[in-house]
Amino acid sequence: MTYQNIVVLTGAGISAESGLGTFRDKDGIWTKYPLEDLATPEGFARNPDFVHEFYNARRAQSAKAEPNAGHIALADLERAQSKTGGSFLLVTQNVDGLHEKAGSNPANIVHMHGELGKSRCGACGDVMAWTGPLSTNLTCQICDTKGQMRPHVVWFGEIPLEMDRIEQALAKCDLFVSIGTSGDVYPAAGFVQMARSLGAWTVELNLEPSSGSALFNESHLGPASKVVPDWVRLNT
Ligand code: OAD
Repeated sequence: MTYQNIVVLTGAGISAESGLGTFRDKDGIWTKYPLEDLATPEGFARNPDFVHEFYNARRAQSAKAEPNAGHIALADLERAQSKTGGSFLLVTQNVDGLHEKAGSNPANIVHMHGELGKSRCGACGDVMAWTGPLSTNLTCQICDTKGQMRPHVVWFGEIPLEMDRIEQALAKCDLFVSIGTSGDVYPAAGFVQMARSLGAWTVELNLEPSSGSALFNESHLGPASKVVPDWVRLNT
């Protein structure tokens, strides 16, 4: 079956087999580290060194990680879709950059929770590519403020990025696919409801049923490196 407008949402589960931890599974990142200290603006204000240390380690780990067959299948799906003349938007909650590494077109990716490979100045808002560690000793190259550089990631209590673009794509999509996400974090968890209520066919590809599993027309359970390529092969 061909679709005119496809929106794919990915979460930490698609990168699990690339060696990057998920958040809420047994042994997930938020079972070992305090979310309120590491992923909120208040936590950063209280202890910026602790937050920098955590994201510096994740940035270094992500830079070494390689995409798996799940990421690669999504790049294949995008190429197949572009041949039909239809639209494709890949919305990811992941900050690891593995979709680009797998060959997905950056122009069709929305990093709604930001990117580890970028820094942001808390004073002037400038965003720039960043590969090394961040620290409170740094000075912004644009506004000269010291100690305000932060990872370009969205923390709890902050508004995810490019929501207008995502909502426009959801409103016109005829296929919505959710991959490797628990469905516990809004607004991403609400995308399936929006897409389905506006007539899209909805598909879940996940290791286990997500919180919103009942809202999907189709659900295929298993590791992303298997279920994503299998599903893409059957649908292209
Ligand atoms: P979660 O850790 O909440 O959920 C990961 C999902 O992936 C679970 O449903 C797992 O069953 C599934 N999973 C695990 N391994 C898998 C595999 N090999 N193949 C397929 N699925 C697998 O991660 P997210 O839903 O991405 O935000 O979390 C959403 C947001 O919460 C993150 O972007 C992050 C986090 O706090 C911020 O930090 C702002």
